[in-house]
Amino acid sequence: IRCQSTSTEDPKTKRNLLDNASNLLTNLLSGGNLGSMPIAEGAVTDLFDRPLFFSLYDWFIEHGSVYKLAFGPKAFVVVSDPIVARHILRENAFGYDKGVLADILEPIMGKGLIPADLETWKQRRRVIAPGFHAVYLEAMVNMFSDCSERTVLKFEKLLEREELNGRKTIEVDLEAEFLSLGLDIIGLGVFNYDFGSVTKESPVIKAVYGTLSEAEHRSTFYIPYWKFPLARWIVPRQRKFYGDLKVINDCLDGLIRNAKETRQETDVEKLQQRDYSNLKDASLLRFLVDMRGADVDDRQLRDDLMTMLIAGHETTAAVLTWAVFFLAQNPSKMKKAQTEIDSVLGQSRPTLDSIKKLEYTRFIVAESLRLYPQPPLLIRRSLKPDTLPGGYKGEKGGYKIPAGTDIFISVYNLHRSPYYWDRPNVFEPERFSVQKNSDIEGWAGFDPSRSPGAYYPNEIMADFSFLPFGGGPRKCVGDQFALLESTVSLAMLLQKFNVELRGSPDSVGLVTGATIHTKNGMWCKLSKRSDVQ
Ligand code: HEM
Repeated sequence: IRCQSTSTEDPKTKRNLLDNASNLLTNLLSGGNLGSMPIAEGAVTDLFDRPLFFSLYDWFIEHGSVYKLAFGPKAFVVVSDPIVARHILRENAFGYDKGVLADILEPIMGKGLIPADLETWKQRRRVIAPGFHAVYLEAMVNMFSDCSERTVLKFEKLLEREELNGRKTIEVDLEAEFLSLGLDIIGLGVFNYDFGSVTKESPVIKAVYGTLSEAEHRSTFYIPYWKFPLARWIVPRQRKFYGDLKVINDCLDGLIRNAKETRQETDVEKLQQRDYSNLKDASLLRFLVDMRGADVDDRQLRDDLMTMLIAGHETTAAVLTWAVFFLAQNPSKMKKAQTEIDSVLGQSRPTLDSIKKLEYTRFIVAESLRLYPQPPLLIRRSLKPDTLPGGYKGEKGGYKIPAGTDIFISVYNLHRSPYYWDRPNVFEPERFSVQKNSDIEGWAGFDPSRSPGAYYPNEIMADFSFLPFGGGPRKCVGDQFALLESTVSLAMLLQKFNVELRGSPDSVGLVTGATIHTKNGMWCKLSKRSDVQ
């Protein structure tokens, strides 16, 4: 510790290094305190051969749903049990923070909601959550349709060009297209900025992708190299990263300045009742700036916007990518969705009301999130000692968790657990229409009536065995935004096109950082549907 702390004079870096060292020490000492918890020994190759969450699944089947994963001196507790997950995320939510995740994200998101310390989080969550109100979401559905239409038009133009050459299909990397669409949508929805990335490239777009790629690199790299003093000046990828960050920050600062100059301060209730159909700027930034009593410095506002930009872009694109990936391998399910879309929408655009009738399409979105949750792991670090409750499958409970213990809640394991799901690895959107109660002690089973008014399956219905947006106070603030967005974009794609994979499903490959995405792009063949006019 002494050797590390004297290598820098910057007090913040010094504190971070000390925190890291003391956490490592705590973990070393706590290994024994985790008592009789089963231990999985990880080999270094487990970190590089394939995504870590696959190995975590194998160990879950072998060791049970609470085990300790030891990599040399470093230990993590891996949780794949809904009762224990519920305890950590909801019942004792404030006994934990984001640990390693906050270390990685803080340089990018500052004090945005995801990495924020508890005090900042409490303040900002109270202000941001009301921004996602019903009238805003309705206006967003309209914007999702506008943006999805641009993507559909782009494909139609490409198809017309191919038809001149006698071909009836185009080949596109749908993952890349969904990323562009997702970026355009999040830019407009959060700060009324049109990236226009479906049709063009720009320095800001490049900077966003550069920043995402660095965040991903950090999340898969096990040494926090970015914390080393001078790294930002010496390491080329760090220099590029800070350059990208400056481009985005300058853009966001401009938007914040502009929003503040045109501020019309009013109460939350009045903001929530604005006539959004006549608003030029319906964005969340407008809401946050106009909200009476929510005065905040520009730096915090920028952190909030940056956090939502990063949190809401790749995640939604990944949901669409995997939904299409599974549908392309299940033509009868694609047909079933198209029949529903034709009967509800015909050739018109989705609205909030019509989405309520697109039940099967909504279940496809949920099933994509079940099989490939984004992110596959939730990360926590205990702030004080805790005792875990007993879990299903014989986990005794009573495990003592010392302060400073790093925990992975494996959402991937929960979502594919053979104990809670029939045929867990099979793509079956229909499963969400079945009500399944449980005789498992402490777990309430799956029951849609527990969440009245909800149109999408959620963690309350499934008593924490389904956690696509986390749960408890730190649950995703943009969940409805993301679900509606995915449903609109998927419905508008299937309304017009049939989709096949260009190669085998294996050729798509799979890699993971914060989200699970393809290794080689998701190249698909798109053709116009011949069964509709
Ligand atoms: C938090 C998933 C879209 C903003 C989270 C968490 C999950 C999640 C699992 C909880 C993380 C944890 O407990 O550690 C997703 C998925 C999305 C999505 C799967 C798309 C399908 C969005 C969108 C926005 C957003 C569109 C914003 C417009 C946030 C924020 C948090 C968060 C700000 C932190 C909440 C807090 O700590 O209070 N998201 N998200 N997300 N998400 Fe999302």
